[in-house]
Formats: sequence, structure tokens, C-alpha cells
Amino acid sequence: MAAVAVVQGASRGLGLAFCRHILLHRPSAALVATCRRPSGAATWRAVGAGNPGRVTVPAAGRGPAGGRQGGGGPRSGKRSGRADLVVNCSATLHPSGKGETSLRDVSAEDVMATLTTNSVGPLLMAKYFCPLLQRGGGKFGQQHPEKAKQHSGILINMTARVGSIGDNVLGGWYSYRMSKAALNMATKNLSIELGRNRQKVVCVSLHPGTVDTDLSRPYHKNVPKNKLFSADYSVQCLMSIIDRLNIDKTGKAYAWDGSEIPW
Ligand SMILES: NC(=O)c1ccc[n+]([C@@H]2O[C@H](COP(=O)([O-])OP(=O)(O)OC[C@H]3O[C@@H](n4cnc5c(N)ncnc54)[C@H](OP(=O)(O)O)[C@@H]3O)[C@@H](O)[C@H]2O)c1
Repeated sequence: MAAVAVVQGASRGLGLAFCRHILLHRPSAALVATCRRPSGAATWRAVGAGNPGRVTVPAAGRGPAGGRQGGGGPRSGKRSGRADLVVNCSATLHPSGKGETSLRDVSAEDVMATLTTNSVGPLLMAKYFCPLLQRGGGKFGQQHPEKAKQHSGILINMTARVGSIGDNVLGGWYSYRMSKAALNMATKNLSIELGRNRQKVVCVSLHPGTVDTDLSRPYHKNVPKNKLFSADYSVQCLMSIIDRLNIDKTGKAYAWDGSEIPW
């Protein structure tokens, strides 16, 4: 039984790097890659075209307001009827491209848009894909060698350190921070609900570091060169965390270096 990985938000940035990594380093894994405009994502098209037969790109679904962000829904994994790994990557920093620096910049519309994409979208992905993860074969992560299989699937929500309430000393970025704090609560809730059944799903939030992608571009000049990771390097670090996940590590947030981030 081949492993099945689902990457949501595969068009660019970290989502695209997850796709590249899985195709390169998991030669037997099938990949389901979702993004809202599959035909518009040139780099993504090139990756998919180079791997015929291994990649499924589901038809784009409705937008966030319609409930299925970035395409997908349960049909996405139907090819095999199960999934071993789902990575929710899609997010926006803010509709303007820059986070709010103070209350002056806050608007209800922008807060709602950011929450819809960053918090509601991944939660609905979990809703639609958890049945597939519960039917997974536990092909990602680490099972306890001395025990029966402990998890059937892994759900990753890409968070950000700035979503940590305990770690917040600078303030600002109301919409983005709130959206990631809400996402972290969803991760915790999901870990409890999906950890109850016999077929357990490991649910964690992962922070990728500061990564050279479009999302963080307005801030790159303030980041020391050795602290600005390439998407491929960040995903390599994140995949090595995923490889070591088991049910004991569910319901937590981890940074790219494996350290735990307080909620
Ligand atoms: N880059 C960093 O430094 C950094 C740091 C901490 C956390 N993160 C987190 O890492 C994850 C990946 O970020 P990234 O840096 O790869 O960002 P990115 O390069 O800007 O890519 C963003 C992705 O989200 C999708 N997206 C944005 N708005 C959407 C919407 N309304 N509906 C559906 N899809 C939408 C984009 O799709 P389109 O191509 O269709 O627009 C794209 O696939 C995010 O969760 C982000 O919060 C990133």
C-alpha cells in the first residue's frame, strides 16, 4: 500500500516545496496537490508535469467563503480512499500584503478575510479529510516499535511563531496573529477529537521559520541572511519533524528546529 500525501496550497512557497520534497524523497508516495488556481501556477505545473502518474491535482473547489479553500474536499483523496499525511499550507499575511502595525490599521473586513483563509480554511480541510486520514496506513511519522500501530494519519497545520500568545512580546499584526492563534486552537481541538478513536490522527501545528516566500517578502530586508531560510531547507527541517511524529506528540506546536512553541 503506497503512502498518500495531500498538500493544500501547493501553488507556490512552502506548499510547492512540500510537493517537491515528497516527490523527490518519497518515490513510492502518491501526491494529491490542491490549490485554488491549478492552471495558473506555472512552477507548480512544471513540478506536476515532471511526475506523471504520481500527482493528482483535484479540480479547484469553491473559495473560502464557499467552504472549501483552495479546492479539494473529500473527492481529493478518493483515488485511493485514504491519506497518510495532510499538510495545510495556504495562508495570507493580510489582504494588503503587510500586517497591521497598530489598531489604526485594523478593519473588520481584513480581519475577517485573514481569519477565513488562515483559520476557517484549514479547519474545513480537517473536516473533509479526516475520514481519509482515519483510513490511512500510518505511512508518515514513527510508530512505536514495541506497540501496535498507534496512528493512521498525520494532519499538519502550518502556523507561525507570532500566533503564540505566550511568545507575543512585540504586538502588532492583529489579523495574522489572531488567525494563527485560532488555528492553533483548532489543532489542539482536532488532536483531542481525532485522538479518541481506534484510528488515531496525529494533529500538530508547525512553524517553518522565516522563509523566503511571497508571504514574508515585505519583511526580508529586516531578517539577517542566515535567518532567512529557503523554502526547500525549511521543508527539509519540517519533514524531519514529521518523520518523528507519533501519537505522544499530538496537540502541540513545533518550530522548524523541533523545539516546542508555547500556545
Ligand atoms: N514564509 C514565512 O516566513 C512563514 C513564516 C511563518 C509561517 N508561515 C506559514 O507557512 C505557510 C505557507 O506560507 P508561504 O510562505 O508558503 O506563503 P506563500 O508563498 O505566500 O503561499 C501562500 C499560499 O496560500 C495560498 N492562498 C493565499 N490566500 C488564499 C486564499 N484566500 N484561498 C486559497 N489559497 C490561498 C496561495 O495560493 P495562490 O497561489 O492561489 O495565491 C499559496 O498557495 C502559511 O500558513 C504561512 O502562514 C510562513
